[in-house]
Amino acid sequence: MSALPTNYQIYLDAFERILHDYCAGLNAPEGLAEGMRYSLLAGGKRLRPVLFFAALDAFGVDWKKERELALALECIHTYSLIHDDLPAMDNDDLRRGKPSNHKKFGEGNAILAGDALLSEAFTLAIFAAKDEPHRRAGEILARAAGAEGMVAGQYADLAAESDELAGEKELAFIYENKTAQLIRAPLMMAAAIAGKDETPMKGFGTALGILFQMTDDILDVKGESTNMGKTLGKDAEENKLTCVRVYGLEGAERRADQLAENAKRLLSRMDAKTQFFEELVEYVRERDR
Ligand code: IPE
Ligand code: IPE
Ligand code: MG
Ligand code: MG
Ligand code: MG
Repeated sequence: MSALPTNYQIYLDAFERILHDYCAGLNAPEGLAEGMRYSLLAGGKRLRPVLFFAALDAFGVDWKKERELALALECIHTYSLIHDDLPAMDNDDLRRGKPSNHKKFGEGNAILAGDALLSEAFTLAIFAAKDEPHRRAGEILARAAGAEGMVAGQYADLAAESDELAGEKELAFIYENKTAQLIRAPLMMAAAIAGKDETPMKGFGTALGILFQMTDDILDVKGESTNMGKTLGKDAEENKLTCVRVYGLEGAERRADQLAENAKRLLSRMDAKTQFFEELVEYVRERDR
């Protein structure tokens, strides 16, 4: 596997400390808080908060001060995973190497833990909105998460399961929305906070996010469950519309290579330090977890 980008561990360690402090102070009935903590602290790559910190750093902003929006990103991502695993959606029993939230706490409680994490994200984002750039960052996050973002992609993902005619066009919509929206959001949020143009980060983040979901789909076919922390082979079982279903495994691998090259080209237009992101593209293309 390709190595993590230089500095990934620094941003990750900082975020883990922030997250542990936040979890220790969660204000909710104990059973509900336990379900929220269970999924938040189960591990995970923390890609979205790491992207946020790395982009702030690349723009020369003091990233260690931006705790709330980093937490909000991971709360929304974790909620999306809890709901994604429910029997009514992907019906997955394993997540981040542990029983999924509904397996441990029951379906009703898992729905509520997800609801609570989503609402927490907006409490955090409003708390962070101390000036116009931070308000704008919260708006980017809200739009990326909801009916014109991740939820729209999840809706299309479910619809495509029973649509035998769904193909390339539907796949592109699913990829851009269910995954790329929440991967480009931290990059665009960092640009907003730094007072920079959001457009180059939007372009690069979209390519990176689509690549990330392509490799997730490829790893569902050829990865190791112990590395991935989830049951693999599920996409074919649930008749998911994936790059492997549309292009075949070899075709999907070839397209992922092309997209990785394209993502690196987009970086050259950026008014920021880009070494971290170049390494990140390599990592995402070659990842095994
Ligand atoms: C899983 O996201 C869902 C997808 C968008 C493919 P991650 O692979 O980032 O999951 P964690 O946070 O590392 O568990
Ligand atoms: C997940 O896509 C996208 C989300 C918004 C959670 P998948 O359904 O492929 O993610 P995994 O494979 O369950 O992590
Ligand atoms: Mg899914
Ligand atoms: Mg899933
Ligand atoms: Mg998947």
